[in-house]
Amino acid sequence: MLRTQILGTGFVVGEHLVKNDDLTRVMDTSDAWIRERSGIEQRYYVKDGTTTTDLAQRAAEKAIADSGIDKNEIDYIVFATMTPDHYFPGCGGILQSKLGLKPIPAVDLRQQCTGFIYGLQISDALLRSGAAKTILLVGAEVHTGFMPWTQWDHLFGLGGEAPTAEQLAWNSTFRDRTVLFGDAAGACILRASESKSGLIGFEMHSDGSAYKDLYVPAGGFAQRPYITEEDYRAGRHIPVMNGRGVFKMAVTRMPEVIRSLCKSNGVEVEQIDLLIAHQANLRINESVQKTLSLPNERVYNNIQSYGNTTAATIPIAFDECRKSGRVKSGNLVCFVGLGAGFHWGAALLRA
Ligand code: ACO
Repeated sequence: MLRTQILGTGFVVGEHLVKNDDLTRVMDTSDAWIRERSGIEQRYYVKDGTTTTDLAQRAAEKAIADSGIDKNEIDYIVFATMTPDHYFPGCGGILQSKLGLKPIPAVDLRQQCTGFIYGLQISDALLRSGAAKTILLVGAEVHTGFMPWTQWDHLFGLGGEAPTAEQLAWNSTFRDRTVLFGDAAGACILRASESKSGLIGFEMHSDGSAYKDLYVPAGGFAQRPYITEEDYRAGRHIPVMNGRGVFKMAVTRMPEVIRSLCKSNGVEVEQIDLLIAHQANLRINESVQKTLSLPNERVYNNIQSYGNTTAATIPIAFDECRKSGRVKSGNLVCFVGLGAGFHWGAALLRA
């Protein structure tokens, strides 16, 4: 059977390591609160000027080298991000140019934390239909453009002015969200061949009825003009999040979709050798693991080190698992994610 294989992987993070304690320089928070509620210990932020496509280019170069292909063999780019360099055009074409590839098709996906899994499914369809032979799939994010503070040097410990009491209070307004995210990119090279190994099944869902539980109010064409000075002053360019609503949805939908996907593919949940869930909150993933009764050695989490990197979390975790020997030939790997939209879904891979 023609199946899609992941030939190579790679990832990069932003240039600045930011520990939880560092965040206390710009907002009212604490290492204890962040660790306890989310499991996050640190994250990386880009230096000023580094964009989503810059991170994507670095991750793609690693994935290309890891796969052993010539970059000119890539004949399709699928790019998942919710933090594109520009409102338009999308990141896929910019990445094609930065990598020095010939003109090839390049599409952007806007499925946030489920973007990478949607990307796998779409890539799988393109490859097995013969529309593409070698796909570069990227999940990349620079979230720092959402952050409300301006005191970057102070945050990075590079001197610079400390926030005033008023600025600290403003920055803290968004602290339930801003502490969660980090900047990073993950990439992989995909190809289909006659094999028993490879991607064996997907189950994807979207339900927009509760999209306001996690969205960015301004910067969209639902209003005219699509961004105003007042939007910026009011912080409407920063995501709004019903944290508890998202949490509840994630701990319900993710086990549900895994069970359903396993059933439709004739495998038992207990046969999953490695579960790689989107890294939004360690407590969410612990709950999913408990619901599915999976032992620790079959679940991989790395949110402690990177925070939530949205479309990049799954390729980063998979790269770490592959390179540390946690993915063995014949293993059943399950990817699962849920994010803004809401979009959620899962994929099964026979390694
Ligand atoms: N530091 C210190 N205190 C804080 C912080 C912070 N960073 N953030 C919030 N608090 C305070 C609040 O002000 C509140 O104080 P109060 O009780 O005095 O009013 C208290 O902590 C509890 O706040 P809650 O928001 O109710 O905290 P909760 O237990 O719900 O945890 C969290 C918040 C971690 C955000 C959780 O709801 C969560 O992880 N939800 C899922 C979010 C998620 O996954 N989002 C990303 C989805 S991915 C995507 O698609 C982009």
